[in-house]
Amino acid sequence: MNRRTILMSVTAIGLALTSVASAQGLPPLEKKERYKVGFSQMESNNPWRIAETKSFVDTAESCNWDLITTDAAGSAAKQVADVESMIAQGIDVLFLPPREEKPLIPAVKRAQAAGIPTFLVDRSVDPNAAVAGEDFVAFLGSDFIDQGRRVAEWLSENFEGDKGVIVQLEGTTGSSPANDRKKGFDDAIAADDRFEIVASQTGDFARDLGRQVMETLLQAHPDVNVVYAHNDEMAIGAIQALELAGRTPGEDVLVVSIDGTRDALQAIIDGKMGVTVESSPFFGPLACEVMNRYADGETIEPWVQVQDRIFTAENAADHIDEAY
Ligand code: AHR
Repeated sequence: MNRRTILMSVTAIGLALTSVASAQGLPPLEKKERYKVGFSQMESNNPWRIAETKSFVDTAESCNWDLITTDAAGSAAKQVADVESMIAQGIDVLFLPPREEKPLIPAVKRAQAAGIPTFLVDRSVDPNAAVAGEDFVAFLGSDFIDQGRRVAEWLSENFEGDKGVIVQLEGTTGSSPANDRKKGFDDAIAADDRFEIVASQTGDFARDLGRQVMETLLQAHPDVNVVYAHNDEMAIGAIQALELAGRTPGEDVLVVSIDGTRDALQAIIDGKMGVTVESSPFFGPLACEVMNRYADGETIEPWVQVQDRIFTAENAADHIDEAY
């Protein structure tokens, strides 16, 4: 057998395995005393990610999980490799927050082909390439379009000026929250003709990059009076840049955002930020509940939707003690 024939046979076996898996539908989950569970984190460079991982770790004992966690350090390629390594270690279940919508598709498909029920957590993948109920069990998470829309509606109701000049700090390019939070906000704010989005640029959901991008955009758009950040970390970075430039967030610039971190709630209490729409990182208990329902043979709804609150000057102080 030459190299080409071997490659063709390996490919044929791979295709056969894939079609067997999809012909059989979703892999079942056997009822067990303990489960070997994989949680593949994408990065740990912000409080939200750290809180999400901690939520899985804190849930492990009560849910009878032998939990393996990995950290892809901001690389989609490493996250795919991390999932492959967990598959090789024989996990029973995979919980995956895919860093970006397209590059993580192979990881989802490989877990399915290996017979491992996979739940996407907090972020989703491109629905044209992988479908809940077919390629993975379900997506557990928020409605990101609605989060963006709620920020825009709050802004429209609470902005007191005649003209709102908006800078938008986008999340990680190609990620579901960045795509959807932009769409929800842009569509809703278009209904109020006082507003114009003069710049929209990625800050990769990171505080320091948010600060740097804001510094640059402030030079190009010194008349900005609204900052919409796709997460609180970038909002805090933007506040730092505004203050360094001699601006007064909360007075001459309205900063609005999404997540509900401790620093954001403090910024609201301090009058530097207007609103943050919640996006909860506490997925551990929900993941446990949904996994057990699946093991009991229930059909899981394709989207297990998380409901989000809204934090403003009216209630931020009531919630800061529970924030992360
Ligand atoms: O996927 C959710 C987003 O990812 C959070 O808003 C953000 O802070 C995190 O990194």
